Amino acid sequence: MDFNEFKERVRSASDITDIIGRYVSLKKAGAYYKGLCPFHNEKSPSFFVMPDDQYFYCYGCHKGGDVFTFLCDHDNLDFTEALEELARTAGIEVPEKFDRVKGTGFVNKGLKSRLFSMYKDAAGFYYEQLHSESGKKAYEYLNKRGISPNMITAFGLGYATGNNFLYETLKEKAYTDEELKESGLFSYKTGKPRDYFFNRLMFPIMNKSSRVIAFGGRVLDDSKPKYINSPETAIYSKKDNLYGVHRAIRAKSDRVILVEGYMDVISMHQSGFSNTVASLGTALTAEQAHIIAGMAPKTYIIYDSDSAGTAAMLRAIPILKKEGLFVNVVDMSPFKDPDELIKSEERAGLESRIERADNAFFFEIKELSKEYDLDDPSERAGFEEKTAEMIAAFDNKFEREQYIRTISERFAINSELLKTEVSRIGNLKEKGAGTRYRVSTSRRLTSKESEKNEVPFTDEKNILCALIRSPEYFERVSKYISPEDFTSGPVMGELARLTFKGVSEGGITVPELMDSFDGEENDFIGRVFSDENYEGADEDEKRRFLSESVISLMKRRTDELLSACTAQMQDEYRKLTLKKKETDKIESIFI
Ligand code: UTP
Ligand code: MN
Repeated sequence: MDFNEFKERVRSASDITDIIGRYVSLKKAGAYYKGLCPFHNEKSPSFFVMPDDQYFYCYGCHKGGDVFTFLCDHDNLDFTEALEELARTAGIEVPEKFDRVKGTGFVNKGLKSRLFSMYKDAAGFYYEQLHSESGKKAYEYLNKRGISPNMITAFGLGYATGNNFLYETLKEKAYTDEELKESGLFSYKTGKPRDYFFNRLMFPIMNKSSRVIAFGGRVLDDSKPKYINSPETAIYSKKDNLYGVHRAIRAKSDRVILVEGYMDVISMHQSGFSNTVASLGTALTAEQAHIIAGMAPKTYIIYDSDSAGTAAMLRAIPILKKEGLFVNVVDMSPFKDPDELIKSEERAGLESRIERADNAFFFEIKELSKEYDLDDPSERAGFEEKTAEMIAAFDNKFEREQYIRTISERFAINSELLKTEVSRIGNLKEKGAGTRYRVSTSRRLTSKESEKNEVPFTDEKNILCALIRSPEYFERVSKYISPEDFTSGPVMGELARLTFKGVSEGGITVPELMDSFDGEENDFIGRVFSDENYEGADEDEKRRFLSESVISLMKRRTDELLSACTAQMQDEYRKLTLKKKETDKIESIFI
């Protein structure tokens, strides 16, 4: 039995309704079960289990997934831990080869400890090379970059010469061919094993317990690629590790500093910021954010000051916030990266920049403002509207209050207007009009791709649900609402058009609607037509519910059209003002 077979066996033996039923009291509602969501606080149930699809979804907090996801999130388990747990519950024997290391599935248990020992030997070998005659060039390079012997030792830096020396060395230590092959330290392109790293400065990547689990290797000149990194192995999963964590975890600080590269980490540690880690050259992952949150409550991001660095920060901020961290962004201009900054301003300079660091939300708003021309009235209106939406997304009213005050000052926005707009958006949300504003710094419209994962405005959803089940209301509803009013996204718009058409022509079913799309939207359509509010209600309730939804949609739609109109008029006003100025200048046209 391979790993996938094992996983699927466990899945089919673990009915999602049974498993979730152990934690949540579920009530049958039509083809579904519903209950109070275990992932957020709520008074009325918006958590649904769909036995046919073996899937759960919460309309309140938007968590959803299969039985494995549920257990992982609910009990805070790794995937393999959840799998093991479910196997035990189902009475399925866990195979010998099963390993708890995330994502690796089955491995031979002995192999892991052999790899740990092999990486230790390899790191020792590279370290010796750095301090030998053949590593002289590399040692001088480190010297030139100002890295102290202490740091070379603390980070176990080394040098890979080449000539297949590592292979020879490890072979002598009696590692088997199989083990050498699994280590990722050699390339087998020609059929024969060759050292993967050569002529490179070596940065051992260590885990929390200071065990070497991988390497990064840098060239000593400007050739490309600058770095190559170890592949994933039974002991190394890139998304679960941070460079520098072996020292940062012992730093006992109230904050973790997050930088981009190997060199940044080392130069930060050398200047006394031993609470610094790097995300190993990729986009920060949720797993890495989780590790950071386990070390301290606050984090300071210091990424490269170029556009790639800024984009990476904007991506990292929500991931860090999701782990409950207080996120701050350190301004490094005019320097390129922390390494460069420290060389010029030294520890004290960086320290004061950290003290002056902006809360990540201001950073997000500042970056957002760069997308607009704030001297143009209609662009400014767009920026202010988006800012209000982003502030309204905070649950805490004191926090909202603070942001309204500071942001209106910084960006010269009328604070009363901003406040009114934030509460208007907040009220829409609370009234259960179901508005869910996307907090994103991009002005682009929701793409088809992201819409699939979003729950549509609930008023739009409710109206379609009602029409398909009670076509007798169609005539009345269509007096007030037309498919053009469904603006939560392109799929929703199309779905509304088809539903209106189908119902007016004598009725249509959900499967028929699904057939009109290309299959990818089935999940979304299923959620739109799920009947959590409709099932079990009597005729009166249904009618009242439909009527509320129609009114909510009409109001929201009118607001939308009105603000589009205001923006357009402002634009018109600006153009006319310009024209007037020009007209005023004209004295004669017949000369
Ligand atoms: P940088 O190019 O900023 O490198 O990439 P650096 O660490 O600052 O190194 P120096 O100061 O130029 O010597 C940041 C990180 O991105 C990953 C590495 O983890 C690097 O530390 N990276 C970069 C790669 O994995 N491969 C590459 O080719 C380049
Ligand atoms: Mn850099």
